[in-house]
Amino acid sequence: MSKKISLTRYLIEQQRKQGNIPPELRLLLEVVARACKRISQSVSKGALGDVMGSAESENVQGEIQKKLDIIANEVLIEANEWGGHLAAMASEEMDAIYVVPNRYPKGEYLLLFDPLDGSSNIDVNVSIGTIFSVLRMPEDDRGVDEGDFLQPGHRQVAAGYCVYGPQTTLALTVGDGVAMFTLDREQGSFVLTQEDVKIPRDTREFAINMSNMRHWDAPVRRYIDECLAGVEGPREKDFNMRWIASMVADVHRIMTRGGVFLYPWDKREPNKPGKLRLMYEANPMAWLIEQAGGAASDGHQRILDITPSSLHQRVSVILGAKNEVERIDQYHREHPAAN
Ligand code: AHG
Ligand code: MN
Ligand code: MN
Repeated sequence: MSKKISLTRYLIEQQRKQGNIPPELRLLLEVVARACKRISQSVSKGALGDVMGSAESENVQGEIQKKLDIIANEVLIEANEWGGHLAAMASEEMDAIYVVPNRYPKGEYLLLFDPLDGSSNIDVNVSIGTIFSVLRMPEDDRGVDEGDFLQPGHRQVAAGYCVYGPQTTLALTVGDGVAMFTLDREQGSFVLTQEDVKIPRDTREFAINMSNMRHWDAPVRRYIDECLAGVEGPREKDFNMRWIASMVADVHRIMTRGGVFLYPWDKREPNKPGKLRLMYEANPMAWLIEQAGGAASDGHQRILDITPSSLHQRVSVILGAKNEVERIDQYHREHPAAN
């Protein structure tokens, strides 16, 4: 008999272990995982399916949508709208929230997602992924609207990502550490392959888009300069650099072997607080990283403590090895005028 633990069994055991995964949330997570399996299948077809290249549309962020951005968004909506577990959804690819149509029963959860993260990597066959975050509807709320979504990240009840790489891997937290599941393509199910994932507090590896160096503010510039100075510099050690340009893949590497990831504010668009989106990129990743013993900050405060003022709000992101994130926060305190 196989000793493999499926996602379904893991969730049922979590439900027994902690009262905080009610059956509806378990159903929701199973449905999201099923949608990720379908997206994984589309991704793997590549040039053999109609999934490569751009669509003829822009999203609310003013970015040209790729065909897979739209496909992944539709898969997530179709999978989640009829089960009765959700009140509404929000996505990077949709301007407004998507309220569950009246023909379906409504539940108490809100689902947010970046359906396809790392879009620039689709056509070059490099890892991409899906990021998701689950919130509960505020109590005593009669109808759902965008305001119901604007909760700080520490109110998430589940968060995860699925990375479509050489393997399809799902990372999940419901507030009891991080578990990872690998898609068994023959069986069609996610199998638990790592429990209680932990990130070392220190690292010699950083991830940042170095081409933006001239646009950074002083604290980030100082941190990276010191890393680059290596053994002869103040850090007295050599650093390695990685940048995949899919947050999901960069974070997955950090979850697996440690490191620190930065997508800081920069001067290219000074009025935007950063590039990444708070509610469906930064928050779920921040919670996963914290659950794995790391830290996540915008340079000034814990990402999970930011109260959002709009659905597609952007944020500066620094996450990963706890001591490195604390050091970068310290550099921000020493340059109080910096973003
Ligand atoms: P998305 O594909 O969902 O728009 O997100 C892309 C994000 C993130 O995944 C990645 O870290 C970053 O953009 C890459 O930015 P650069 O193009 O500056 O490398
Ligand atoms: Mn993204
Ligand atoms: Mn995206």
